[in-house]
Amino acid sequence: MNTRLLNCSGAYDDFICEAAEIIRNGGLVAFPTETVYGLGANGLDPDAVNSIFRAKGRPNDNPLILHVSDIASAEKLWSCIPDAAYALMNTFWPGPLTIIAPRASIVPDEVTAGLETVAVRLPSDPVARALISKAGVPIAAPSANLSGKPSPTTAEHVFEDMKGKIPIILDGGPCKFGVESTVVTLAGEVPTILRPGAVTLEMLSAVIGEVKVSESVLSPLKPGEKVASPGMKYKHYSPEAEVFVVNGSPEATAKRIMQLYDDAINGGKHPLICATEETMPFYNRCGENVLNSGYQCAIVGTRKYPQTMCTNLFRILRDADSCSDLIFAEGTREQNEGLAYMNRLLRAAGFKVIEAGE
Ligand code: TXA
Ligand code: MG
Repeated sequence: MNTRLLNCSGAYDDFICEAAEIIRNGGLVAFPTETVYGLGANGLDPDAVNSIFRAKGRPNDNPLILHVSDIASAEKLWSCIPDAAYALMNTFWPGPLTIIAPRASIVPDEVTAGLETVAVRLPSDPVARALISKAGVPIAAPSANLSGKPSPTTAEHVFEDMKGKIPIILDGGPCKFGVESTVVTLAGEVPTILRPGAVTLEMLSAVIGEVKVSESVLSPLKPGEKVASPGMKYKHYSPEAEVFVVNGSPEATAKRIMQLYDDAINGGKHPLICATEETMPFYNRCGENVLNSGYQCAIVGTRKYPQTMCTNLFRILRDADSCSDLIFAEGTREQNEGLAYMNRLLRAAGFKVIEAGE
């Protein structure tokens, strides 16, 4: 199959019509959202949903998110809607928040992987919204990467993973947030974050009061442990290169990483530093331009604004494969969007952490 990239930076009505037609006929379309690119199919058509799992190589016990273009469409997908859901929808939709509540009977088992709940989200990206509303059905869409790889934040990333498997990729440019939506479940006693994102714990609590963070957000599953979110049990976001997280103050982190880097070079490796603006001055051995320092570095963002680190992380992990086989990535505090950054980074690293101290 020939895979076409359709540039949606100008007028895109014709592309939306074509893509919506494919969705209605049971096919797959990749499309941009404000978080990451999605791989969409008609969420009410079990065969179409199954083809998503095949294209991604995704285990089919990992449920999908249904994407809608208005709140009225979301209401039809749940059998009971807690007050907190309305408070969250009215505050954070359209936007990077996915809400889980008991499912309605029209939702196929293939979407929920047999669970009694369903995840629903109303994205803010204009191309995504136009596509969903034109298709006239909820669109089931996981991130448009091969299972296990970092989620795609550009149409080119999607092409790398999906070429030959899908007819169309709608290209909306780089994604604004760069990590997937926050997933919060309202199906238990206390609202619980299963996956942190750009709608933070702090923002959710300000609207609905007590919110918990699932233990699996920052720690690996213990053997035999039952998971709240099936997605958490799989290896995730992994580049080919081995990744280590290095935690600590900017100065201590940079010093430790420089030692690790030199050791790696001596061992014949090709290391890459995933640095922050705060540590860049330390990697500069001679007080000159970073490019002259001899260290291969990518700047993920600034620790002051962890959202900047989220925006660039997946792109850096993907690009790293062409130039390195070992990545030393700086950790940050798990506050605000820092929680989402650490959740993705720890998984990419298989929870391998080096403490550099303060
Ligand atoms: O930003 C996003 O959410 C992107 C874009 C495309 O919208 N989508 C996305 O989908 O990240 P996916 O399939 O890669 O991640 C969905 C996550 C998985 O961890 C899955 O296990 C969890 O949501 N999930 C979905 N339905 C669930 C349910 N009923 N109960 C618990 N977890 C659920
Ligand atoms: Mg995913």
